[in-house]
Amino acid sequence: MAESLLVGRDLHKAFGPTQALRGADVAVHAGEILAVMGPSGSGKSTLLHCLAGIIAPDSGTIHYRGRDLAAMNDGERSALRRTEFGFVFQFGQLVPELTLLENVALPLRLGGVRRKAAEATAREWLDRLEVGELGDRRPGDVSGGQGQRVAVARALVTRPKVVFADEPTGALDSLNGEKVMQLFTDAVRDTQAAVVLVTHEARVAAHSDREIVVRDGRVGHPELVA
Ligand SMILES: Nc1ncnc2c1ncn2[C@@H]1O[C@H](COP(=O)(O)OP(=O)(O)OP(=O)(O)O)[C@@H](O)[C@H]1O
Ligand SMILES: [Mg+2]
Repeated sequence: MAESLLVGRDLHKAFGPTQALRGADVAVHAGEILAVMGPSGSGKSTLLHCLAGIIAPDSGTIHYRGRDLAAMNDGERSALRRTEFGFVFQFGQLVPELTLLENVALPLRLGGVRRKAAEATAREWLDRLEVGELGDRRPGDVSGGQGQRVAVARALVTRPKVVFADEPTGALDSLNGEKVMQLFTDAVRDTQAAVVLVTHEARVAAHSDREIVVRDGRVGHPELVA
């Protein structure tokens, strides 16, 4: 059996009266692309944010490589997010004032890499995502699909062990979405990162190795809840 890199057990999370998670269990294996499916409001994003250490569950445990996220202090958790995790969101969330090259170099710069080396690595990633010629532009001056490729490059530039992607192609048309997913999955298979891919689109989940379905804050398997 594959190594479980990231394991969430019996996760509960409420926002006021809303029970977003009510006993969710999930294990992410090293190197796999795991699709997290399920209807709108079922708790997919909440589950992703808990697994990534962005929000704390009310109860339940999360272990990354055997380490309990709740036992870490804020500094340790943010160091973990910076060094081991990568993130791609629906609308890229690039820094508008920076060029695309600077956006991709940013996670390396924050990790203490010098500008020249960081930008050289960033350039390689832009090339891999086939947007190498756009490095000097700013996020406002490229298409949605191009911006998402840059967001993928930025997520992978530190060679994370886990990439969290929440509807990474949700804002794109199907042709652009397919292209981004193809480039994304090719690149993560090279780096052997695991991916937690939230989507409610079957054609996006088709790029995954395994699917789980979130319903009413709990995790099932597609064949059990279909
Ligand atoms: N910060 C918040 N404050 C209040 N309620 C929230 C908050 N975040 C999520 N919720 C609620 O928790 C439930 C689960 O939300 P979540 O965002 O996890 O769903 P989702 O499966 O990602 O949905 P979608 O497919 O629409 O993105 C929803 O009822 C949502 O309204
Ligand atoms: Mg969501």
